[in-house]
Amino acid sequence: QAPATILGIETSCDETAAALVVRDEFGRGTIRSNVVRSQLDEHAAFGGVVPELAARAHVTYLDHIIAQACREAGIPLAQVDAIAATAGPGLIGGVLVGLTTAKALAAALDKPLLGINHLEAHALTARLTDGVPFPYLMLLVSGGHSQFVLVRGVGDYERWGTTIDDALGEAFDKVAKLLSLGHPGGPAVERIAKAGDSHRFKFPRPLLREARMDFSFSGLKTAVRLQAEALAPLADQDVADIAASFQTAVAEIVATRSRQALEQFASRFPGQDMRLVVAGGVAANQTIGTALRAVCAEAGATLIVPPIALCTDNGAMVAWAGAERFALGVHDGLEFVARPRWPL
Ligand code: KG4
Ligand code: ZN
Repeated sequence: QAPATILGIETSCDETAAALVVRDEFGRGTIRSNVVRSQLDEHAAFGGVVPELAARAHVTYLDHIIAQACREAGIPLAQVDAIAATAGPGLIGGVLVGLTTAKALAAALDKPLLGINHLEAHALTARLTDGVPFPYLMLLVSGGHSQFVLVRGVGDYERWGTTIDDALGEAFDKVAKLLSLGHPGGPAVERIAKAGDSHRFKFPRPLLREARMDFSFSGLKTAVRLQAEALAPLADQDVADIAASFQTAVAEIVATRSRQALEQFASRFPGQDMRLVVAGGVAANQTIGTALRAVCAEAGATLIVPPIALCTDNGAMVAWAGAERFALGVHDGLEFVARPRWPL
């Protein structure tokens, strides 16, 4: 397999990102540059991502981010072998900006285009960072997704469960909002929770008694809201205790589901090494990380958490997913269509 240099473009949410990744003849990846411009400031006043503003910011910055990625890598655009861009799922305005830019570059430079599924990019990142062999289990917990995916090979995925309402990161963000902790909520909830008593409130663990592997967080969020309203006006200690009790509830939910997913993996692949890979911004949460480490230790599985900059949205994961598909001879045509919804 000849080495290949791939440009990856990510614009499906509120990160404008581009990266250059080289895949060598042994299938190992090297990140040559990974430039991410977060739009946190643009959206801060609105308490969440505003799709139209996101798309406009991608238009404004993407060209510069791509140029910077090439500069930092020391690789001119003309030397890349293929151009990969997230083509969905995500906020369609932003996806169109990235995909259209990729098409324009592919046409102008006469290089192949690769339309990448954003979830596939998250799913394959652990092969870039840790060279993880197939099959493995991925838990994706971000602002937009909460799901288990069995990763059997490139393009060969099986979703084992998803959220029936909010994503886990979204639940953190909503709880932060109703505790007036600002956006994004995850890091703020985690920080405040350190000073809190996680036993003070027993919040519900929705769906947990059911065998299905799905998540549900909206009932938990409502319970948090009702508790906050009952105690209003909230003292600092109340806020910390609510945050800690909420975080403990979600850690228990995630741990229980992961235990179940590992059991299913073991029965599907007897005797196979078990690996649980975590992706998405919530992977940064240490309470959840500790709970997952305990579950994996108990199940005899290895927990893999790539560096957090690669767990959250970035261009390197898109470039790498492109590299894996390019190595299999996949090229997409310029007619490739963006898909706001695109399950794996
Ligand atoms: O993967 P990501 O950067 O963006 C996408 O949603 O694609 O994930 C962002 C989400 C936000 O909802 C944020 O609140 C959450 O990840 N998050 C956290 C933490 N850091 C980020 N949630 C819990 N604890 C954290 N330390
Ligand atoms: Zn993502």
